[in-house]
Amino acid sequence: MKNKTIWSNRFKNKMSQSFQKIGSSIHIDKRLYEQDIAASIVHTKMLMKQKIIKSENGNRIINGLKKIKAQINKGNFEFKEKFEDIHLNIEKALFEIIGSSAGFLHTARSRNDQVVTDFKLWVKEASNEIIKDISVVMRKLIKKAEKNTDTVMPGLTHLKNAQPISFAHYLLSYYEMLKRDKKRFENNLELLNECPLGSVALSGTSYKIDRTYTAKKLGFKKPTDNSMDSVSDRDFAIDFLYASAVCAMHLSRLAEDFIIYNSDAFNLISFRDSMLTGSSIMPQKKNPDPAELIRGKVGMNYGKLNAILTIMKGLPMSYFKDMQDDKELVFGGYDTLKDTLTMSAELINSVNANKENMLFMANQGYTTATDFADYLVKNKNLSFRESYAISAKVVNYAEKNKKMLSELNLDEIKKFYKNLDKSVLKVFDVKNSMNAKKSHGGTSIINVKSMIKKYKREI
Ligand code: ARG
Repeated sequence: MKNKTIWSNRFKNKMSQSFQKIGSSIHIDKRLYEQDIAASIVHTKMLMKQKIIKSENGNRIINGLKKIKAQINKGNFEFKEKFEDIHLNIEKALFEIIGSSAGFLHTARSRNDQVVTDFKLWVKEASNEIIKDISVVMRKLIKKAEKNTDTVMPGLTHLKNAQPISFAHYLLSYYEMLKRDKKRFENNLELLNECPLGSVALSGTSYKIDRTYTAKKLGFKKPTDNSMDSVSDRDFAIDFLYASAVCAMHLSRLAEDFIIYNSDAFNLISFRDSMLTGSSIMPQKKNPDPAELIRGKVGMNYGKLNAILTIMKGLPMSYFKDMQDDKELVFGGYDTLKDTLTMSAELINSVNANKENMLFMANQGYTTATDFADYLVKNKNLSFRESYAISAKVVNYAEKNKKMLSELNLDEIKKFYKNLDKSVLKVFDVKNSMNAKKSHGGTSIINVKSMIKKYKREI
């Protein structure tokens, strides 16, 4: 019995070696051992409670499972490829430890409901971990923003200077993105909160099991309502990979911004040397590799999402072995995102704003042209389109004379609209422009400071 597969009595010849290699998932799903043992213990307690198995067998099973867990924790457990996966490896080991009582564990259970229960438990824990890691990044953004509420930089659209903003306001735009990411993982937890254990192979069972008991004991809200859906559903894995892909995409955008701002052409931010690498040939180089890795890693997350969607496409009801690869994708997606989040938190922490350059660049590209148009609307009773046209002429003039808007004097501006006094000049000041954006969600210091207060409270 010891070395045989569970189904050896029915099979005439040994499993092909190449099939064993592709069919065995133990090198991947051994990561489920804690969940598998926890679910088996709860299942056993339920079987005893319902008098489906005798207490003496049940207690032996539970003790044996605890021993196996301790062995695995200590690194004293030998995972065997020939026993395919974590479920059969543990069941086989249980026979070795407690003998024939182990045979009662798999009553009213199948690997089909077992694997999806374990996997859901794992994804739940992983989601909570990611939620914590996202919060760490969000806190770093707040911290960096607090120091930069009056650091003026050019806000860009189309990568062309658009309007002055604060570096804090820019950073906090990523806070909002990550806040949605966190919510996405939280929403997933809500959807995932039904326990498939007891769906058995696909049709349920004739034993008088108590599914509410096992669901509650394993921390789920309730048991699932359709046994076929339960063993074939991998939406929770797809949701996890989707939320991971979106989060990684946000971090990739942040990294790309940082790479651009750190470039010699922009020179708006610098990083601590611990976030840089040198070149093997060019002695002067300091390259932002961590940011580039964060930018690139998203490819892995997209790939895994795409792979699982493709695996699930067109799969008939109910369980198929195709789904075994779901775990490699989710585990990998989790590992990648976790590293990316950790790296992002450090990178944000290490950013230093080159305030002088930011201010200088905020003045380039006529970034206060809209403020001038707004001034005319508010003070001269013109329509926005009329004011826009006047402001455009001023910009053309400044461009031709190689001046920034803030360098124009009153007489020069008056060439384009006569009835002006020197109070107009302040609209060309970039800090003033930034501070004037007091509408809800705008970049003014007062707004950003109150947002920071709100963010600190909510996080
Ligand atoms: N290792 C399998 C998986 O991850 C467990 C379920 C096996 N079920 C089966 N009917 N072969 O999908």
